[in-house]
Amino acid sequence: MCLPDGEGSEYMVTDTTVLSSDLARVAVEAAVLAPSIHNSQPWRWRLRDDVLELSADLARAAPVADPDHRQLVMSCGAALFNAWLALRAAGVAVGVDELPDGPDIAAGRLAAMRVVGSCPPASGDVALAVAMRHRHTDRRPFDPAEPPVELIHGLRRATEAEGCWLVSLTRPDARVELSVVLAHADWIETHDPAYRAELLHWSRDDPEATDGIPRGAVIGSDTPRQSEFPLRDFDVVGEAGQRLREPRVERPGVLILGTDGDGPAAWLHAGRALGRLLVMATAAGVAASPLGQAIDLEATRTLVREATGGFGMPQMILRVGYPDLAATPLPPTRRRQITEVLDLADGSSAD
Ligand SMILES: Cc1cc2nc3c(=O)[nH]c(=O)nc-3n(C[C@H](O)[C@H](O)[C@H](O)COP(=O)(O)O)c2cc1C
Repeated sequence: MCLPDGEGSEYMVTDTTVLSSDLARVAVEAAVLAPSIHNSQPWRWRLRDDVLELSADLARAAPVADPDHRQLVMSCGAALFNAWLALRAAGVAVGVDELPDGPDIAAGRLAAMRVVGSCPPASGDVALAVAMRHRHTDRRPFDPAEPPVELIHGLRRATEAEGCWLVSLTRPDARVELSVVLAHADWIETHDPAYRAELLHWSRDDPEATDGIPRGAVIGSDTPRQSEFPLRDFDVVGEAGQRLREPRVERPGVLILGTDGDGPAAWLHAGRALGRLLVMATAAGVAASPLGQAIDLEATRTLVREATGGFGMPQMILRVGYPDLAATPLPPTRRRQITEVLDLADGSSAD
């Protein structure tokens, strides 16, 4: 990725052996940019004795769509990746201890980060750290151009580096099967009053809201969209027999991210892999949006699992593709201030 003028210059090598409050701010400012289920930002950070600790904020859970907190922990995993990346880009080598208090996420920490040394960042890390600031979920129709196979291979290697796997759904019948499963999951969820109430709870009309999903970021179900299931198109041949228009149907890459096991450790890894994959895609000019509804429900998650060969556990489905260049740039979905999520324990302000 070419860095825009001046971008990346803030990432200077920091010669330090302790995680100072300044470094904690660098890490948490990056962490809060991570994607999270319903933009719930379900994390808490605390700097204690040079250790930056991450905990789940269960008060920000979505118990209907995410009853076991799987997606909440994944969101925290993505935030952990961002924090790690920002420190790496600053030349700080970081050790991460995951679930240091055991798997009970209500009682213990999700992760503890400490400085283990300093070394210049790889140029790739700086480019990813810059892309991290531009990443956002893009639910709009993509350009019809398919993402290149080499990019998908790169994303697969990135998820493997985080201990996860990635399957690209290319067989036409597998893609049709998945779109049916997605529609089925959507139907079940939107007919559940508790699910609708939860979505409403996380939907925001106020453009200044610092959490939740702004209405402008979602595609309403009454908005016609190009899909793999268009109506029969009769509007193709004009009076003189010429073709009137080419259909502009998106052909997104469909990626299933999974882990061998399930449970908090696997979810944390899946979140880290998701964070890495999304910033890599952003760096390559490729946009993404989750198709999470099929994994919310145990029954449809089992069907997704079968679509990937029946091994491991699917944790996330993504559609990836090139953004439509004619579309207006998406405004970023807002975040809470770091003062709301970072406790410096020594009493100094996180401002
Ligand atoms: C675990 C997880 C599950 C998500 N599920 C969905 C989903 O099913 N559909 C969707 O459109 N976005 C989904 N998202 C994206 C979030 O809504 C998005 O990250 C959040 O609103 C913040 O916006 P941003 O990604 O543009 O910064 C999910 C994100 C995470 C981390």
